[in-house]
Amino acid sequence: MTTNRTFTMIKPDAVAEGHSGSIIKMIEEAGFRIIAVKKVQLTAERAGQFYAVHRERPFYQALCDYMSSGPIIPMILEKDNAVADFRKLIGATNPAQAEEGTIRKLFAKSIEANAIHGSDSDENAKIEGDFFFAGLEQY
Ligand code: CMP
Repeated sequence: MTTNRTFTMIKPDAVAEGHSGSIIKMIEEAGFRIIAVKKVQLTAERAGQFYAVHRERPFYQALCDYMSSGPIIPMILEKDNAVADFRKLIGATNPAQAEEGTIRKLFAKSIEANAIHGSDSDENAKIEGDFFFAGLEQY
């Protein structure tokens, strides 16, 4: 079953370099509605919890350090076929392989500092959205 929501974060490099506005404009112009948004800085420990699925990977510690190096902008987004359409909009994890016109092609600097995250399934979209926004009023 597909749902109409996904979860994203604009990552520290893109926020620090002032690309948040351009990225959010691309997201809205692609037809996504912002359901929840905030600006936060994770601790390395909290970043480790978010990326726990990658804890055995060689890049895990560097990823946690990077993701806690500055503010990020997590968001819950809504659109038909949200997860798949959003992954198309952001492009491949490695910007060298991202298609022209995608957010990562435009703004990512490396496979780690790749500007933006997008959930890979409806199930993870719900888990990841709740990680940042559960406990708030309805969203
Ligand atoms: P994201 O889509 O947020 O999910 C996991 C993140 O790990 C990924 O984006 C990259 O930022 C990072 N990542 C994935 N593969 C590698 C890799 N081979 N080397 C470094 N970082 C990686």
